[in-house]
Amino acid sequence: MSATVVVGGFFGDEGKGKMISYLALKDKPEIAVRGGVGPNAGHTFVLNGEVHKLRMLPSAILSKDTRLMIGAGVVINPEILLNEIEKYHVQDRFFIDGQCGVIEPAHINRDKGEDLKGRIGTTGSGTGPANSDRALRTLKMAKNVRELSIYIGDVSNAVNFALDRGEKVLVEGTQGTFLSLYHGTYPYVTSKDVTASGICADIGLGPKRVDDVILVFKSYVTRVGAGPLSNELSKEEAQKRGWFEVATVTGRERRSAPFNFELAKKAIMLNSATQLAVTKLDVIFPECAHVKEYDKLSEGAKSFIEQIEKTTNVKVVLIGTGEEVYDIIDRRS
Ligand code: IMP
Ligand code: MG
Repeated sequence: MSATVVVGGFFGDEGKGKMISYLALKDKPEIAVRGGVGPNAGHTFVLNGEVHKLRMLPSAILSKDTRLMIGAGVVINPEILLNEIEKYHVQDRFFIDGQCGVIEPAHINRDKGEDLKGRIGTTGSGTGPANSDRALRTLKMAKNVRELSIYIGDVSNAVNFALDRGEKVLVEGTQGTFLSLYHGTYPYVTSKDVTASGICADIGLGPKRVDDVILVFKSYVTRVGAGPLSNELSKEEAQKRGWFEVATVTGRERRSAPFNFELAKKAIMLNSATQLAVTKLDVIFPECAHVKEYDKLSEGAKSFIEQIEKTTNVKVVLIGTGEEVYDIIDRRS
């Protein structure tokens, strides 16, 4: 049995999409399943120069024999989902849980108002209002949407039975630890818990069935929307360092700050991380671009990775050195 959960260690946009697409292509899990909030997330990865941006499907789509699923805890935007299914031709290997929630136009309108987009800086994708309706027990379920009927299944059964058979399951989280409704910087957070436990609950995976939790950190911290960000750089300084980014879903400017070791330690605790991934090492150490072997990293880059490992006591097993999926150092034994 082998279940690996991949979650974000800071405020989202750590590069989970790239890590998951790599793990899927390399390990060829029988199942890749997405938990998390919903289409507020944008997971990006690049293969052979082609940029893929996914808001609903698991980032494992390029592993052709992997069955793709979305867990019951996720809220679905049917239009975005159906477009992605068609674009990636995954019709015959994809299903969602019948109890996924459904985002309707009224949720999106509410999310774009002063109270949410204005005050919190939400993505305006309707996920928060949909989850509030779920708490009120008025949200529509995916099993009651006609256009989704051919994609409905029982995801918790599929995942747990696959583990019983000794198959590999790759679990994809969304957002990041400090956007968690419970453990993040409330009220500047998303509408659910997005730590590893929350992501597993979305899927129906009990805590004793998880083998590894890979926590993904970017080499620096970014945040979109309102809320605290310690040691935040000015936009000019971020641009000078090459850290300035624009958000996948909303096109908003991302705020940035240096790698935060205190947040990293707390995130490891909250997620019971067993392994770490560090992305965009080439952004802070340009000489490391496209490097695929640890020994070929510069001394500065190696000492940054060692500092993370020393401070946290967890091994950095995956290191991103460029935007392509295979720009990666894989130190898993
Ligand atoms: P919501 O999730 O759209 O309700 O937005 C709440 C907060 O979470 C805002 O600060 C958003 O910018 C942030 N957020 C939500 N999803 C993501 C994501 O996938 N990446 C980064 N930030 C996100
Ligand atoms: Mg993102």
